[in-house]
Amino acid sequence: MQETVLQTKNLTKTYGGGTLALKEVSFALKKGEMVCVIGPSGAGKSTLLRCINRMIEADEGSSVVFDGKEITSLRKKELAQTRREIGMVFQHYNLVYRLSALENVLHGRMGYYSTFAGAFSLYKKEDIERAVELLGMLGLEERVYFRCANLSGGQKQRVGIARALIQDPKLILCDEPIASLDPQAAKVIMEYLKGISAEMGIPCLVNLHQVDVAKIYADRIIGMKDGHIVFDGPKEELTDKRIENIYGAKIHEILA
Ligand SMILES: Nc1ncnc2c1ncn2[C@@H]1O[C@H](COP(=O)(O)OP(=O)(O)OP(=O)(O)O)[C@@H](O)[C@H]1O
Ligand SMILES: [Mg+2]
Repeated sequence: MQETVLQTKNLTKTYGGGTLALKEVSFALKKGEMVCVIGPSGAGKSTLLRCINRMIEADEGSSVVFDGKEITSLRKKELAQTRREIGMVFQHYNLVYRLSALENVLHGRMGYYSTFAGAFSLYKKEDIERAVELLGMLGLEERVYFRCANLSGGQKQRVGIARALIQDPKLILCDEPIASLDPQAAKVIMEYLKGISAEMGIPCLVNLHQVDVAKIYADRIIGMKDGHIVFDGPKEELTDKRIENIYGAKIHEILA
């Protein structure tokens, strides 16, 4: 049996204003798993990821155990240490565009430096070598010193992935990593994420809008609707009927 890296139990989130965005969400993620979260806009996919790394606070009574630690009760310092082990990949990359690909990747290492060393970008030689190596692994050996502003969307996202990997993460959370990319660039990104989970053993939890893409790359799919998990199983079990239930629409409208 593969080791459980993440386990949520009764994860609930009410936003100020009273929107109940997550309702008792419970699921587990194991080492090496690639899990895609699908569901209509407003279903709670982004809220789920944000509660896992505590960008936002879940409601009282929620539990998120990551690597054996209850994340919801960690204090500031422990939380910062734990966050280093959770890589994040965003739709809009969150890169510093005036800086090089290399410098952006090194930012992922910042959590391991003192405030002083971090402020002056006093990176260790081994981290610089690792950053170059990761960029090479992601097919960007020719782009190491390029300003990120001059990279294509797919290349920017690969820098984002390298930045997540240099954290030595035990988990990678991706919120719509391909939503701004053309189909070919999207395919490349999904293949890298799949490789990272399968070959490096790092589980990836990936929010996606495209059901067809989820069905190609996921080991398992979680379907969300109105803050609930309404499907959680191997992709083979995600029938058209179940997809229609998640989206509340006909299959030809969803895959159109
Ligand atoms: N900061 C916020 N304050 C109040 N309500 C919010 C906030 N962020 C999200 N919500 C609400 O919570 C619900 C879930 O939103 P969330 O962004 O998690 O959905 P999503 O599944 O990621 O949607 P999308 O596919 O459009 O990205 C929605 O009803 C949304 O309006
Ligand atoms: Mg979202």
